[in-house]
Amino acid sequence: MCCIFTSKFETIFFNFLVKKNSIFFHLFSHLFSKVRLMTFFGLISFFSILFSANLTAQEPDVQKGKSLFNSQCAACHKLNRNLVGPALNGVSAKYEKDWLYSWIKNSQAMIKSGDPQAVAIYEEYNKVAMNAFPNLSNEDIDNILAYTDYVPPKPTPPPGAPVAQTSSSSSTNDIILILLSFVLLVLVMLLYLINKTLKSLVNQNTVFADQQNNKKGIPIWKAFAKNQFLVFCSVIFLLLSSAYYAYGYMLQVGVDQGYMPIQPIHYSHKIHSGANQIECQYCHSSAKKSKHSGIPSLNVCMNCHENIAEYNGEEDLEKGYTKEFYTNEIKKLYKAVGWDENSQSYTGDTEPVKWVRIHNLPDFVYFNHAQHVNVAGVDCKTCHGPVEEMEILYQHSSLTMGWCINCHRETNVDLKNNEYYQKIHEELSKKYGVDELTAAQMGGLECGKCHY
Ligand code: HEC
Ligand code: HEC
Ligand code: HEC
Ligand code: HEC
Ligand code: HEC
Ligand code: HEC
Repeated sequence: MCCIFTSKFETIFFNFLVKKNSIFFHLFSHLFSKVRLMTFFGLISFFSILFSANLTAQEPDVQKGKSLFNSQCAACHKLNRNLVGPALNGVSAKYEKDWLYSWIKNSQAMIKSGDPQAVAIYEEYNKVAMNAFPNLSNEDIDNILAYTDYVPPKPTPPPGAPVAQTSSSSSTNDIILILLSFVLLVLVMLLYLINKTLKSLVNQNTVFADQQNNKKGIPIWKAFAKNQFLVFCSVIFLLLSSAYYAYGYMLQVGVDQGYMPIQPIHYSHKIHSGANQIECQYCHSSAKKSKHSGIPSLNVCMNCHENIAEYNGEEDLEKGYTKEFYTNEIKKLYKAVGWDENSQSYTGDTEPVKWVRIHNLPDFVYFNHAQHVNVAGVDCKTCHGPVEEMEILYQHSSLTMGWCINCHRETNVDLKNNEYYQKIHEELSKKYGVDELTAAQMGGLECGKCHY
């Protein structure tokens, strides 16, 4: 496909050039034959690298093991501490694989059959029975054991040591790096060939030499400057690439999509709204009534946290989010509101928490939460993304003018079950002769609606 394209391109191009100037013919046929060969070998080596990287990816999956462990085993086992059952870190070294498979699938059967190892553990743990897991496959168990054996990478490796990274991000980085170096290589070769061909042409050809009063071997840049076609191409290339970067840069100015600052208290929406299903409006109660949605005052937090002094939910050991870490964050809340745990009373000694503001439209824009949440019935998620999955909150949407306008063009106003519109419903649909109205048709594109 690629080759068909280039050869077609070549013939058209050459027909044009040959008529114009035979120097071009030599130059480009020379170039194209070399370039095509290079591209071919480049592609072969590129794909062979990709392929070999894929072959090594067949290992037990620590992530799968972790979620299996958390859902099936965590009620009785911890990695580093005895709970109902023993700590499981490094357990695969203690027993044979096959013994572990049958133990985990049905430990009671093994105890009954009198297996000495099984009976010994059973006795040691006061004859508490472990659940049977007949549904786990050997592969599942391999994954769980990979997790219990897993030692998280050290946060700061000694200088000079290779940096441990998570596999997915490092492999995409690798691919990007390989691609980049490939492109670079082709570019360098291309430049080298242009250079070489021009030189040999200049040396052979009398066209240039004549004009230079028979001086032999004129400098390459002069030959280049004489060749109007090459100059033209280079200028176009330079202009296009600088325009591309300038445009990309200007589009970014003032757009904070993905902005994710570190907050003074590690407050997790994932834990509150995800795991514990607390309604958004419990804390952001003004979203329904007013322009601003607001951040809750710390008194709202204390409705619950007078009683919740410790964290006992899920941990994320890889990221360092342990129970101790979370509990310590709750203590920061206590310090800020001046809550004394021992006497269960307020000391009056408070210090404000300065939440870092994430979403922030420019002052010349008018945006109203009540209009969107209450009147239009737009879900928080549509604009703020999957907040209940965010351990640390970030800005999901771009908040550009184009973003607002696109949605106004696409979203129908909820006229039917909406008291707000019962009176004007008929009027409006008569005016446009439709049953459905977009926010845009209702005036959502007028500059004055959004700009003071
Ligand atoms: C209901 C609680 C419970 C659950 C759930 C549980 N275990 Fe156990 N496990 C125990 C107890 C208790 C023991 C100690 C032996 C006994 O008393 O039967 C044990 C022992 C073990 C041992 C032997 C450890 C040693 O050091 O000797 C392994 C391995 C094990 N469990 C793996 C698992 C895996 C994997 C899961 C999840 C798929 C799991 N267990 C789920 C209670 C549980
Ligand atoms: C228990 C209280 C609580 C609940 C429930 C809650 N939030 Fe928040 N929210 C906060 C606090 C505190 C902050 C400020 C700290 C931060 O940004 O993480 C915040 C910040 C935000 C912000 C960013 C504000 C900014 O600075 O721009 C958004 C957006 C947000 N919440 C949306 C939601 C949504 C959507 C839900 C429901 C899925 C929700 N919140 C549920 C307490 C809560
Ligand atoms: C409706 C009840 C409720 C409200 C209101 C509430 N929390 Fe929580 N909070 C919880 C629950 C439940 C947990 C999880 C406890 C657990 O799993 O053991 C929690 C956990 C936490 C944690 C530890 C986990 C994490 O998110 O880092 C912190 C810190 C915390 N809350 C801070 C706050 C702050 C600050 C506010 C006020 C903006 C607040 N909470 C409001 C119920 C609430
Ligand atoms: C139509 C899109 C949209 C919807 C729906 C929406 N928001 Fe917002 N939200 C925004 C924009 C835009 C801002 C920035 C406002 C500003 O800077 O003045 C914002 C800001 C916020 C803030 C920061 C404080 C503030 O008011 O500036 C919080 C908190 C928030 N939203 C929570 C919510 C919650 C909770 C819901 C659901 C009940 C919700 N939002 C629904 C677009 C939306
Ligand atoms: C998710 C879709 C959505 C997004 C994003 C959105 N809007 Fe809207 N907007 C609506 C809908 C639907 C209405 C119609 C509400 C109604 O029924 O009055 C509306 C109405 C409005 C109105 C009132 C228009 C009128 O005719 O009275 C203003 C002003 C407005 N939006 C401003 C904004 C701004 C500013 C932004 C961007 C920061 C924005 N909106 C982003 C859906 C959206
Ligand atoms: C639905 C709401 C909405 C409407 C209607 C709207 N704008 Fe905007 N406009 C915005 C928002 C939001 C921004 C801020 C964008 C940002 O910060 O990137 C903005 C920014 C601007 C800017 C500053 C340049 C920039 O991109 O930051 C200009 C100029 C502007 N608008 C002109 C207009 C004109 C003229 C109209 C009428 C044809 C109009 N706007 C209609 C929401 C709107």
